[in-house]
Amino acid sequence: MRTQIIGSGFVTGEHRITNDQLAQLMDTSDSWIRERSGVEARYYVEQGTATSDLGVGAAKKALEDAGVTKEEVDYVVFATMTPDHYFPGCGGIFLEKMKMPQIPTLDIRQQCTGFLYGLQVADVLVRSGEARTVLLVGAEVHSGFMPWRNWDFLFGRGGQPPTPEEGALNTRFRDRTVLFGDAAGAVVMRGSEGDRGMLGYQLHSDGTNFQDLYVPGVGFAHRPFVDEQQTKDFLHIPEMNGRAVYKLAVSRMPQAVRELCAKQRMTVGDIDLLIAHQANLRINEAVQKSLGLSDDRVYNNIQKYGNTTAATIPIALDECRKSGRIRPGQLVCFVGLGSGFHWGAALMRA
Ligand code: ACO
Repeated sequence: MRTQIIGSGFVTGEHRITNDQLAQLMDTSDSWIRERSGVEARYYVEQGTATSDLGVGAAKKALEDAGVTKEEVDYVVFATMTPDHYFPGCGGIFLEKMKMPQIPTLDIRQQCTGFLYGLQVADVLVRSGEARTVLLVGAEVHSGFMPWRNWDFLFGRGGQPPTPEEGALNTRFRDRTVLFGDAAGAVVMRGSEGDRGMLGYQLHSDGTNFQDLYVPGVGFAHRPFVDEQQTKDFLHIPEMNGRAVYKLAVSRMPQAVRELCAKQRMTVGDIDLLIAHQANLRINEAVQKSLGLSDDRVYNNIQKYGNTTAATIPIALDECRKSGRIRPGQLVCFVGLGSGFHWGAALMRA
């Protein structure tokens, strides 16, 4: 028996914001963002919309697509690095908002590889018989990391543009803030006889250089875990050594794909479609080149949504499924790298 993805869906934040709009808040430009990252626009939620809310939106679409009722789901796996609260995780809150019964839920904290880790967990739950139908959600509200206060101005409904001091502060974080957006994707997974479904995984973790991408404040390595000074010093905003992350991604992602293909007694040339985590279009182009895959075998959509962390892969998968880009029998490879660092790949026979 293999575990199949039988339905998918996604939602974004309500507000689509272009690079030019962001350039009103900080010293950046459409050309810099496009050239360095490929991002053209991203979505932000309205104040008050949380990660669990986006997860609900994506899950409802995935269930409808699968033709499965919420009562048929017997396990929820929820991947996010931006939970509604420090604790509890999103699983229970999600169940309550979905009005689902008291089934088990599991939060996954593997950032940009959260969805890949979630796929493996969901697959194992199904094949072991512990669950018949698993709902796997990847959802993020990154807008809480943004340093600016000018949301009304950004959303074009009045408000004030940033003062020069606020503009300088926004510019300090521009290498990170321009990359991220708010969205959620979800899939429904169920077992079925035959060769189609999830084939295998190659996952890794290495904490050696975790400080190349992390939130320095707001954590229990400090006492108290959050204080006024930390927020004054903006230690609640992620630190990122962009160059180091870039180098890791372009070496480890192709390596994970090669390792997995070898483990499955396949070759990289057998891959019909590569769906990579969408952190930077340049990273994905380098991964594609390293693997020697032609353009028709790679799907990217970071241009439209930016980096949505745990949501990028299910969103891209949903677009490929609905547009006919994935056909039955094709070999699909998922790959990603994220903070931790965690990275890896998964193979699926569509
Ligand atoms: N607009 C304009 N200029 C900018 C911006 C911006 N948004 N951001 C940085 N710059 C400037 C810098 O200040 C610097 O100026 P200087 O030369 O005068 O000092 C110049 O542009 C080059 O900056 P770099 O940081 O060296 O630019 P780089 O080419 O490395 O691109 C980027 C930066 C896009 C962040 C790239 O390094 C990258 O994508 N890295 C990987 C990021 C990533 O994958 N993160 C994963 C996060 S996912 C997760 O796990 C949560």
